[in-house]
Amino acid sequence: MALQATFSLTPEQIERFRSDGFLQLESITSADEIERLAEIYDELFDGRRTVAAGDRLELAGDAEKPVLPQIVNPERYAPELLETVAHANATAIALQLLGDASTSAGMHAIRKPPHHGAATPWHQDEAYWDPAREHNAISIWMPLQPATLENGCMQFVRGSQHDEVRPHRLISEDAHGLVVDGDIDEELVVACPIPAGGATIHNGRTLHYAGPNATDGPRRALIMAFQTPTSERAEPRDFYWQRPEWYEST
Ligand code: NI
Repeated sequence: MALQATFSLTPEQIERFRSDGFLQLESITSADEIERLAEIYDELFDGRRTVAAGDRLELAGDAEKPVLPQIVNPERYAPELLETVAHANATAIALQLLGDASTSAGMHAIRKPPHHGAATPWHQDEAYWDPAREHNAISIWMPLQPATLENGCMQFVRGSQHDEVRPHRLISEDAHGLVVDGDIDEELVVACPIPAGGATIHNGRTLHYAGPNATDGPRRALIMAFQTPTSERAEPRDFYWQRPEWYEST
């Protein structure tokens, strides 16, 4: 049985999301559910539940020293992630922001280890996607403990979703993560500390960053992505940073 949503955005929040490219929410789930989600999360990362090798990624370090371990499609291995109030509320929020054509684009989970967890460098999510298609997508990022400046809460460049996708490059040779090329306008950066079970929402083009984890505990975040069907772009783009040959030639 699908759970009922318990939350919806106000017209003011929708307006703010449109102008800023991000939004921060204090709570989209209950304390009980956060506890249950954290248990599932650790089972996935500790190997107590099987995850296909292709769905385990290291965004910035390597297999020897993971600094940004990530699991894509965790709901394949823990389908109960979909049977949560958090997911019902995220689905309802996506319908409000993307309209009736909104569908789930899957989840991913990032667990930043204590002390040596690296920063998630500045990037736009669309830099990872097909440059030939027009995308309309949002990500809803929910921490399973308070997200603070010390453990790597999300930070955004206000209004950056109005720009085109900027040039990116791989963080390092063996990593999967991308980092934007060029400077960030620090005056437009907004850090978003939020409680456990709160959320930040951003658009596929909003420039965002999360700091390293300097605390004693892991920083767990569950990301729920939504999109409308993509369409072919009138003007194609060259996302050369997606091509391995480009790195060999530089
Ligand atoms: Ni991102």
